[in-house]
Amino acid sequence: MEDADALGGMTVLVAGDDLGAVQAVRARLQALGADATALAGDADAIARAAVADPPAAVLALGGAEAALRLRLDPFGLDAGPPVIGVEAIAGGEDGVGLLAAWRLRALAERSALRVRQSEMEGVLAAQAVTRRRELEAARADTLRRLITAAGYRDDNTYEHTERVGQLAARLARGLGMPDREVSLIRQAAPLHDIGKIAIPDSILLKPGKLTDEEFEVVKTHAVLGARVLARGGSDLLETAETIARHHHERWDGGGYPDGLAGEAIPIAARLVHVADVFDILVHERPYKESWTVEAAALEIAGGAGTQFDPEAVGAFTALGPTGWSHPF
Ligand SMILES: [Fe+2]
Ligand SMILES: [Fe+2]
Repeated sequence: MEDADALGGMTVLVAGDDLGAVQAVRARLQALGADATALAGDADAIARAAVADPPAAVLALGGAEAALRLRLDPFGLDAGPPVIGVEAIAGGEDGVGLLAAWRLRALAERSALRVRQSEMEGVLAAQAVTRRRELEAARADTLRRLITAAGYRDDNTYEHTERVGQLAARLARGLGMPDREVSLIRQAAPLHDIGKIAIPDSILLKPGKLTDEEFEVVKTHAVLGARVLARGGSDLLETAETIARHHHERWDGGGYPDGLAGEAIPIAARLVHVADVFDILVHERPYKESWTVEAAALEIAGGAGTQFDPEAVGAFTALGPTGWSHPF
């Protein structure tokens, strides 16, 4: 039984060592409706021809299959035209009939589908990477805006929060913390006082000493800040939440909001506590004059073991005046 349309104009490259056999199979395939070409001889030359003008399938005769597949798809990625051994579709070179034509067509179509599938998977993976990058960029952008807002609320110049981020990161590095943690602290520390957006100006900007009630209101900024940053879904926001909540805890347990003591206070918060107090001391605030660097450093050293983590103070002292100063 013959069917001149069985292969519907499918392009087939018939390849092998024996020119006579190759030409005979090409004639059979042409009779079955293929757009067939024949090449015999050197596997490299055949592979080059198949790459230059890829057929829907390469039909390999007389054991040429392995050599051609090695050249056309060495990693089994279904990348180039499929190499099909004649044995896979027929009993042998002489048995190339209608049934073989159908099998050849089915194998070629399956291979084309696999190629399309892997192309689409590639496109989808690239889109997923792009979306993730966009999401990360959007998150980082939002965070930057939040940091700017926090900075303006704190001292109207945005610089205090930045300086605290830098000094806390230097302390973290001084303690030998891993780069990633140092970087998280550097980025998260400027948000330590974000909760102050909820504290009224009449208290926050009050010159002079606060009443006990007013100070109780100020203390709420730790919990409020942590609430703003909670469930952020990233290490950075988690670090920021921890710092916001605990940057007023004291080593001796006398701080707020939770009265944690010693190593129960997260290390990032212990470092920010030192950096924050130092920076406030050496700069003017509505309620105080600025201190000299030497006086502030003495105050920090004097708080080791009571207000501050002694190791954090050790890292602070080791930095020295150049390490404490900032490019602002
Ligand atoms: Fe604070
Ligand atoms: Fe602060």
